[in-house]
Amino acid sequence: MERRKVGILGATGMVGQRFIQLLSNHPWFEIAWLAASDRSAGKTYGEACRWKLDTPLPAKIAAMTVQPNVPEGFVPSNLGDALPKIIFAALDADIARELEPKFAAAGCAVISNSSAFRMTTDVPLVVPEVNADHLSLIEAQSYRAQSGGYIVTNPNCCAIGLVLPLKPLEERFGIESMFVSTMQAVSGAGYPGVASLDILGNVVPFIKNEEEKLQEEVNKLLGRVNGNHIEMLDAKISAHCNRVAVEDGHTECVSIKLRTKASRADILAAWSEFAPLRGDHLPSAPDQPVEFDEAIDRPQPRLDRMRGAGMSTTVGRLRECTLLDWKFVLLSHNTIRGAAGAALLNAEVLARAGKLDKLGTPPKVMAVLA
Ligand SMILES: NC(=O)c1ccc[n+]([C@@H]2O[C@H](COP(=O)([O-])OP(=O)(O)OC[C@H]3O[C@@H](n4cnc5c(N)ncnc54)[C@H](OP(=O)(O)O)[C@@H]3O)[C@@H](O)[C@H]2O)c1
Repeated sequence: MERRKVGILGATGMVGQRFIQLLSNHPWFEIAWLAASDRSAGKTYGEACRWKLDTPLPAKIAAMTVQPNVPEGFVPSNLGDALPKIIFAALDADIARELEPKFAAAGCAVISNSSAFRMTTDVPLVVPEVNADHLSLIEAQSYRAQSGGYIVTNPNCCAIGLVLPLKPLEERFGIESMFVSTMQAVSGAGYPGVASLDILGNVVPFIKNEEEKLQEEVNKLLGRVNGNHIEMLDAKISAHCNRVAVEDGHTECVSIKLRTKASRADILAAWSEFAPLRGDHLPSAPDQPVEFDEAIDRPQPRLDRMRGAGMSTTVGRLRECTLLDWKFVLLSHNTIRGAAGAALLNAEVLARAGKLDKLGTPPKVMAVLA
């Protein structure tokens, strides 16, 4: 099968590098275009990027020229052939707010990591195992009608790891309220991120806007599609977010109150039976999205973050809570499952649904041509 050409906006950052690593041997997608800020544009990727991953930077990618974020002669209605129509975006929210609509208006599928449009009514916020049906919202976007383009987002890195074990609990027992306290890795702050003097031997009990994002995004993810919008779940969620001196992998301590009673066995069964994409043969989908570990001292970031090739959430320490019903600890890889891998899985689901075909053409025109 011929691989589809893709571009990466923000290709030199922490998430951009993960995209390159995960896409390098991807069976469905091929990197054809890389862009970053004016600081990097015009340099080769090898010159522009401070590669931080533990696999070598592929020579072919190192030799590619980093393009300006808005290609020269960029006309929204006429992209030309140089720019791929599938764009993975790993930009800071302020820049994403300005750039992503331009690419969507130009007929691209923009598959975004940033928070800029996650809570916008007609923009799907998606974790495929949890709410793939929310992708129907793209058909309500004005870009879609005009150019065939659209924006799809994946959640905040902590929300993704958390919502995977929550989904089967919400389905079977309902979630009334929850308290979650995070211990978030430094790679979550991008590069260079938090200064070493601030984080070494230390914990920083503040990450700007993180608690608000976690609280609202979980309720959107677990909400229901109603026409062109999402009816949010109304679980009460209180989050405490902390930055810790861990390289990769976000740990979260959760206490939860369910709407109906559940035993320990009921909860473990809900997690082990949760495999909504099994059988779909999507390259990035883990076989077991929620892995429970019985050991008394797991999960741990260094030991568990690569489970399911970095795409599974590991859960452990399930025990009764003296304030709410149950408590547990979870761990997920923040730049794989929590960012680039999440966007890639969204793209695979979109490809399977035919939503990456004939981009640049409004669906009404496609229907007439068919
Ligand atoms: N790190 C995580 O674990 C994580 C998880 C989930 C979501 N996210 C989100 O993903 C996004 C990227 O995060 P990150 O950690 O990769 O950040 P980062 O390491 O700071 O990288 C930012 C990227 O954006 C580029 N950029 C900056 N200004 C630009 C401009 N004006 N035009 C085009 N590109 C520009 C940078 O290029 P230069 O190298 O040229 O400056 C770099 O490639 C953020 O929205 C973040 O919140 C991150």
